[in-house]
Amino acid sequence: MIKLLLIFLSLTIFTLSSSDAAIYKGQRVFIKKCLKCHKGGQNFVSQYKMKKWKKLMKKKGRGLAKLHLKNPKAKKSWKYFKSSKFKKKSKHLKQFLIEYAKDSGNVPACN
Ligand code: HEC
Repeated sequence: MIKLLLIFLSLTIFTLSSSDAAIYKGQRVFIKKCLKCHKGGQNFVSQYKMKKWKKLMKKKGRGLAKLHLKNPKAKKSWKYFKSSKFKKKSKHLKQFLIEYAKDSGNVPACN
């Protein structure tokens, strides 16, 4: 019974997230770019509220980029945060982060 429920749940989550292309794209960015340093995955995203993500991701993610660029511990991410790739994808990433923020009530299927 529980197994069935789990299958059902993951199917719903899968269809939900893949039907929304932007969020799906954002999730891929997150998995590819952020997960290697922020291992929490879904817990990492859901530890912040929507408001915090919105603020960090304003102006094509300037806040988020800045925060990393001034931290020597995040040096390996500098190239990415300075690149136009990050700016280009920041919109999708923002949607993903907000979608799965602490107060959104959603749970991502990214593991
Ligand atoms: C090279 C490793 C690295 C990568 C890649 C990276 N980060 Fe970070 N990030 C860090 C470090 C180091 C800190 C500072 C954490 C600390 O000082 O405890 C940080 C801090 C943060 C914070 C702030 C945490 C806080 O407490 O205020 C957020 C939010 C964040 N990162 C999100 C992201 C997102 C989203 C991505 C992907 C686009 C990403 N990071 C990619 C290393 C990385």
